[in-house]
Amino acid sequence: MLNHGSARPGSRTESLPALGGRIVLADNLDFMAGLPSASIDLIYADPPFFTGRLQKRRNGRQRFHDQWHGGLGAFLDFLRPRLTEMRRLLKPTGTVYVHLDWHAVHYVKVLLDEVFGYDHFLNEIIWSYRTGGRSRRWFARKHDSLLVYTRERNGHKFHVMREGAYRTDGLNRDESGRPYKNTRSGRLYFHPEGPAMTDVWELPFLSTVARERTGYPTQKPESLLERVIQASSDPGDLVADFFCGSGTTLAVARRLGRRWLGCDRSPEAVRLASARLSDLFIAASRGP
Ligand SMILES: C[S@@+](CC[C@H](N)C(=O)[O-])C[C@H]1O[C@@H](n2cnc3c(N)ncnc32)[C@H](O)[C@@H]1O
Repeated sequence: MLNHGSARPGSRTESLPALGGRIVLADNLDFMAGLPSASIDLIYADPPFFTGRLQKRRNGRQRFHDQWHGGLGAFLDFLRPRLTEMRRLLKPTGTVYVHLDWHAVHYVKVLLDEVFGYDHFLNEIIWSYRTGGRSRRWFARKHDSLLVYTRERNGHKFHVMREGAYRTDGLNRDESGRPYKNTRSGRLYFHPEGPAMTDVWELPFLSTVARERTGYPTQKPESLLERVIQASSDPGDLVADFFCGSGTTLAVARRLGRRWLGCDRSPEAVRLASARLSDLFIAASRGP
């Protein structure tokens, strides 16, 4: 279901998608206030980064504001009630990922510690990428951070993800191809699908010619959301993105068989995300 609507602040009457998903044009604080507590499995939040910039689409029309009169304090005052609502909305097994960069990540870490609890912190994921542009005055800034917190301590859902090859000498393969090393006490077996993923993710930035590119400034690559969604949810779970922009989270959630819920206050974002989800729906119903 793709429907646009404005939420009534505090009414708690908004319905959740039973199957499929929903995109809403609203301020996310108003929209979240209308949703029932403990109803969402996974929230990905990609808010403004406190860059001080005006983001423009390539056609120069759409502007995405990331300027804060009142400075960092105003930015944190904007985020605090929204992160508090996200915590209320998460199920006891739920997880939130908050995506930022060097501009404000350290301050938002402290804020998240306040809202969720210092001991509810799970990870700081470093998304490392190689884009053009290198400063001569400092090391090139080529990573974003995703701060991960759980609703309950140790009660969260998590699936180990695996990538790459083992970096160890003397690795053998047995008759069925399983990797092992000989040790004094016998064979030490390794997982056949490779080592468990670490908190440093090397993933390409969205290329200017990528098929998934919508033209929305700050659009994130689907490969990043695939990891987030696969690690912290199951098929049929409800995945929400209240800063959904062009709908990357929603498109990936849909492809991976999750229910999805999106919100953005920009009509241009909601239009793009709706078109993206409709295209995906048409492509899926036509088959591969
Ligand atoms: C960094 S962009 C998200 C990009 C998105 N992850 C994607 O892949 O396209 C942040 C989005 O938050 C939206 N936004 C900012 N403040 C908001 C608010 N109070 N309520 C709803 N959306 C908001 C902006 O309109 C913008 O689309």
